[in-house]
Amino acid sequence: MDEDCRIVDADEVTTDDTVVFTAKSGFETTEGLLARLDDGTIVAYTNYCPHWRDVRLDKGSGANVRNGDLVCGKHGATFAKATGDCDYGPCEGAVLDTFEVTVAGGDVYLTDEAWDQAEPGLSEERDLSSGSRIDF
Ligand code: FES
Repeated sequence: MDEDCRIVDADEVTTDDTVVFTAKSGFETTEGLLARLDDGTIVAYTNYCPHWRDVRLDKGSGANVRNGDLVCGKHGATFAKATGDCDYGPCEGAVLDTFEVTVAGGDVYLTDEAWDQAEPGLSEERDLSSGSRIDF
């Protein structure tokens, strides 16, 4: 595994919480979040709500998780943790973008070919003012 793409210990990702990370490729930077499903699988989604793309789902201390859904703190949209599908809220029907991640040796790695570096935590570089807002 590429150590530049190691995000966190797999044990840090629990079913009750999320872990935010920053992915980089060249000058491009974005944020994702890790979530653990009830069967132990770790999945990764974009950290931005499809309703208002400048709103983070995980502001750095874990996204809200309720009944197996990720919940956007802004207007309450809920996203099925297993699929990223928005099943309630102003962006119902939208789907969170995914990242490919792999667990190896007890660590979680970003193995998505679109990105070549990853680190835990929020991005300090991403300019949230450029995010578009889509009304549904
Ligand atoms: S910004 Fe997430 S539901 Fe509106």
